[in-house]
Amino acid sequence: MFKKKSPIQPPLPSRGQMHRGRKLMIWILIIVMVPLLYVASVFVPSFIAERGYLRKELGDFTVVGHRGGASIGPENTLLCIERGIEAGAEMIEIDIHLTKDGQLLVCHDQTVNRTTNGKGRIRDLTLAEIKRLNVVYKGKVTDEKLPTLDEVLDLVHGRCDLLIEIKRTGNIYQGIEEKMLQTVDAHHARGWVVVQSFNDSVLENTHRLDPSVRLEKLVVFKFPGLPYIFDLSFSRFSYEKYSYIESFNFFYGAVNRSLINDIHAHNREVKLWTLEERMKAPHWPVDGIITNRPDDWQP
Ligand code: G3P
Ligand code: CA
Repeated sequence: MFKKKSPIQPPLPSRGQMHRGRKLMIWILIIVMVPLLYVASVFVPSFIAERGYLRKELGDFTVVGHRGGASIGPENTLLCIERGIEAGAEMIEIDIHLTKDGQLLVCHDQTVNRTTNGKGRIRDLTLAEIKRLNVVYKGKVTDEKLPTLDEVLDLVHGRCDLLIEIKRTGNIYQGIEEKMLQTVDAHHARGWVVVQSFNDSVLENTHRLDPSVRLEKLVVFKFPGLPYIFDLSFSRFSYEKYSYIESFNFFYGAVNRSLINDIHAHNREVKLWTLEERMKAPHWPVDGIITNRPDDWQP
């Protein structure tokens, strides 16, 4: 007769192991929750701000069609820019890059992958190669092509202002600032062109080439929620460094009322991006809105 073996019981965790387990759980919670809370904090301002501008309440205020007006047409195309102007945008925003053969191309991304039926980095493709591609909008291939800055200047023709964002990172697109100014001059468009960038060296280069160009600085704080939550002076930037900047254009979640007042006290302007419908906008005394829905911001 065999003796029935009793099932092997796993050893109970010791007090030390339970303690370590609890500590691990707490660390996991911290590691997951802190980034989540941080991301949520970025959107705090828009949640608690008063809602609902009326255009007539805004006074001297510029409605900028972001990428033409990216919710009313295929972004950064001639079609979308025309719609943005017809919708009443006082300014149209576009992004520019340099092709392999040194042409100024209007496109948001560094590659053509997302917005066309082609693939590749703009700086590795010639303009002729890019012009063979078609713009894709809402999953469908359209007849639109990615335009050049030249074509956009031709289309806008001073009917509204044009806000050109130079998308340069690192060492790419050397000389883009000079090419942009030459193209603008060829269209006698200095009176209605404004240049913006996240990149300080782009702004400095443009200013050095011609101090009369109106320049705007795009800002996303490294820790966007912090200026709102703490409202401390460390979030203020050096107005001396940006002495030639006329407007600071903020991601809307990275700014607060007192920072806006501070910028105004230094005689500079503030624009916010990227806001969709008017009714979702925080009721702050800004000078302009860069929006995908310029049609929704009209009186
Ligand atoms: O004009 C503001 C906005 O264009 C900056 O962000 O990524 O849309 O170019 P992005
Ligand atoms: Ca842009």
